[in-house]
Amino acid sequence: MNLRNRTILITGGSAGIGLAFALKFVELGNQVIVTGRRQSVLDDVHAKYPKLHTIQNDVADPAQIAALATRVKADFPNLDVLMNNAGIMLFKNLRVPAVDLAGLMAEVNINVGGVIGMTSAFIDILTANKGTVINVSSALAFVPLPAAPIYSATKAAIHSYTQSLRFQLEESGVEVIELMPPTVKTDLAADMTEGDVVTVITTEELVKQSFASLSAGALEIRPGQAKLLAFMRRLAPDFINRQLWKASKKLVPVLAR
Ligand SMILES: NC(=O)c1ccc[n+]([C@@H]2O[C@H](COP(=O)([O-])OP(=O)(O)OC[C@H]3O[C@@H](n4cnc5c(N)ncnc54)[C@H](OP(=O)(O)O)[C@@H]3O)[C@@H](O)[C@H]2O)c1
Repeated sequence: MNLRNRTILITGGSAGIGLAFALKFVELGNQVIVTGRRQSVLDDVHAKYPKLHTIQNDVADPAQIAALATRVKADFPNLDVLMNNAGIMLFKNLRVPAVDLAGLMAEVNINVGGVIGMTSAFIDILTANKGTVINVSSALAFVPLPAAPIYSATKAAIHSYTQSLRFQLEESGVEVIELMPPTVKTDLAADMTEGDVVTVITTEELVKQSFASLSAGALEIRPGQAKLLAFMRRLAPDFINRQLWKASKKLVPVLAR
């Protein structure tokens, strides 16, 4: 991927991995727009990093996606990179009925619906500008973390969707990249601790490894432990699945939510 002179939209770029990528892209001289749901967080980000453009937006809401697409296409006609990064992870107890059935779909709506909706809403400008789509899935696309069952399923879905997208866009001039991070120290992974099975890396380390792969032209980026999980999934799937269950069992909430 060409890492310079791009105009880049990063969903969920107000914190964690999205913000770390946004700052690296700015450092390389790119124009970067970040989104997030909370205006106060976006205001803080803009005050601290005035070069970042910020727009409040919820990727789970199709009407908000449509409004964002209209605004960004008008204000940033050179937009040529969409990084679908916004995501949430929830720990779920599947043994009891959910209190809130609609709430049960939150991860699906954001992690899957958001990626599909955003990609569709921006595909015309990305095609016109011969752009790049970067979908952020997870190492958990290979092996589920059973304490986060819906989250893991959403990431497997994004892995599948991204492969289809890459084939369909093969002759369009749009490159499709998938970033599959391992556990990274952010708010999303605050309850995940380093142990026998799980290793945790910083956003700085993730950026370092990912940008090396991006500049080398990789289309599927598996930093840190993601590479190992992909390998173990082939070598000993039952073993690695059970290891992740053991490592995450304590994170299953006692009560339904
Ligand atoms: N951290 C990890 O260990 C890890 C590992 C593998 C993959 N990932 C993936 O990496 C991506 C970023 O995760 P992170 O760890 O950086 O999480 P994070 O620190 O919690 O940041 C998430 C960002 O997404 C935004 N966001 C959440 N829901 C949104 C929505 N509906 N619409 C727009 N923005 C939304 C948040 O802002 P608001 O809350 O204000 O909306 C925030 O800017 C996610 O897709 C995650 O699944 C993370």
